[in-house]
Amino acid sequence: MSIAVDYVVMCLLPHSLVLMTFCFHHAATTCSKHCYCSESDGGGKTVRCSNQQLTAIPQDIPNDTRRVYLDFNLLTSIPANAFAGLSHLAELDLSHNDISQLQPGAFRGLSSSLQFLDLSANKLVHFTADSFEGLRARANLTNNPWHCDCNLQMAMPRVDLEPVSLTGIVCQTSDPEEMSVQGLAFLLEPDVDLCVVMKRTTDVAMLVVMFGWFTMVISYLVYYVRANQEDARRHLEYLKSLPSRQAKSEESSTISTVV
Ligand SMILES: *[C@@H]1O[C@H](CO)[C@@H](O)[C@H](O)[C@H]1NC(C)=O
Ligand SMILES: *[C@@H]1O[C@H](CO)[C@@H](O)[C@H](O)[C@H]1NC(C)=O
Repeated sequence: MSIAVDYVVMCLLPHSLVLMTFCFHHAATTCSKHCYCSESDGGGKTVRCSNQQLTAIPQDIPNDTRRVYLDFNLLTSIPANAFAGLSHLAELDLSHNDISQLQPGAFRGLSSSLQFLDLSANKLVHFTADSFEGLRARANLTNNPWHCDCNLQMAMPRVDLEPVSLTGIVCQTSDPEEMSVQGLAFLLEPDVDLCVVMKRTTDVAMLVVMFGWFTMVISYLVYYVRANQEDARRHLEYLKSLPSRQAKSEESSTISTVV
């Protein structure tokens, strides 16, 4: 608002012809309802919607916009395809909002153009790789209450953001808690593995299953040997009852080697 008032005051005082053309130029390019637009020398619009108490992203941002400033508003979530029409967008400032949710595809359509994305000073807790699909921008992710856990660690290989962006993920909480990564940009700590507990649980599960199988195999073997011993004993008794002594000794010797 103050910017607008300044413009009006400036434009009401016709100091010089230069200043008047300056005012004219800016007044002529006011675009979106809550925003101020300006055309930069290099071409492409800059749309400033800072500090407007916005709770939703304006839908009337011109499609040739290069820079959008939406900082210091009340945004809580970025829906899918929120900026999909803005194929020239190079810089997007969403800092100092209450954003806790970036829906999958939130930045869809920006992957080839976006160079800088400011998400600092928001309420981001969980990193959702699906939201950043294909983005190669440099992102400012600082000043968010990041929860560092195995999910976050697993998401990292799927992220194309400029690697320096990840230094902004400073953990406020973590799981497991005792890994004490709070206050660290843990993705840069080579020795920290937040998936280690999960791996340990999987190992234990594997051991239990293997032990179960082993027990079953052993019980079966014991049962099999016992049943065969019984058979062998009965067979032996049968042989003993036979009159031929030679057959008996032959059979009993083979049986004793078997048993
Ligand atoms: C912007 O939209 C207009 C009309 O909807 C279209 O003619 C133009 O090609 C679009 N420009 C860009 C850069 O997408
Ligand atoms: C990221 O944002 C914070 C707070 O908004 C700011 O202080 C810092 O300078 C920014 N860092 C970069 C690299 O732009």
